[in-house]
Amino acid sequence: MTLKNRTALIIGGGAGLGRAIALAYAREGARLAVADLTAAAAQETLALAGRAGDGLALAMNIAHPAEIRAGVLAVTQRFGTLDIMVNCAAVCLVDPLLAVTPERWDAVFNVNARGAFFCMTAAAEVMLPKKFGRIITISTPATRLAVPNFATYGASKAAVDSFTKSCAAAWAPHGITVNTIVPGRMTGGMVDALDRDLAKLTGQDLAALAESRTKSLPMQRRVEPAEVASAAVWLASDAAAYVTAERFNFTGGMELG
Ligand SMILES: NC(=O)c1ccc[n+]([C@@H]2O[C@H](COP(=O)([O-])OP(=O)(O)OC[C@H]3O[C@@H](n4cnc5c(N)ncnc54)[C@H](O)[C@@H]3O)[C@@H](O)[C@H]2O)c1
Repeated sequence: MTLKNRTALIIGGGAGLGRAIALAYAREGARLAVADLTAAAAQETLALAGRAGDGLALAMNIAHPAEIRAGVLAVTQRFGTLDIMVNCAAVCLVDPLLAVTPERWDAVFNVNARGAFFCMTAAAEVMLPKKFGRIITISTPATRLAVPNFATYGASKAAVDSFTKSCAAAWAPHGITVNTIVPGRMTGGMVDALDRDLAKLTGQDLAALAESRTKSLPMQRRVEPAEVASAAVWLASDAAAYVTAERFNFTGGMELG
């Protein structure tokens, strides 16, 4: 068990990739805190991980930095420390460029960019004094591809790429690694919703659009969150102690173009 005696906080752990990472961390022996918009979603993940009894479920909206700070404090009060922080929480809004309003911009950036940044600093405040930590952020191929119908998403995640490098450089002397995982197009929630919104926007048949978006991938299949979660296990493990500032592609070659 590679994460035994480590305490991990998975933010956005109530569904999708965050849930898959929580399940994988539980199998690797980590003490587990899961945060999501509702405590019920986080609790469901803990139950699936067999940690309903000893895990910590938190309601947290990362658009509100005070909730992030309160969540991290709750983790340290419960477990005495925090070793690993993974932030999977994000939103993707489909808007043609001229339909992006300041409100829609803020709805994306307040979670994906500002929220992600304050998750990193809140975790680092606990990790810096003890000279150990693993911070994992989640980016997307959309930071490097043209995505005119969800440009705010791609741009907000480009901020994550940038923060990951800056934080990695600042905290490397203090035993904290900071890496980002870039999943390819995964099965489940966020992509299903994106397909639905794109089909609505373009007037295309949903099944045909989803099929063509899958067949356009180099691997011709979507990746399972559980496959991507294996990267989060490795990056949090002692084996990856010398790995930092990486953009860890799990995209099945998507960025080849
Ligand atoms: N799905 C994909 O194909 C894909 C591809 C590349 C990158 N990503 C990234 O991977 C991560 C996980 O994606 P997913 O497909 O598992 O998404 P998902 O929508 O299935 O899960 C995201 C979770 O985050 C939570 N969340 C949303 N806003 C929040 C907020 N303000 N505060 C706290 N929690 C919040 C949601 O409730 C949900 O449980 C995201 O960062 C996403 O941008 C996804």
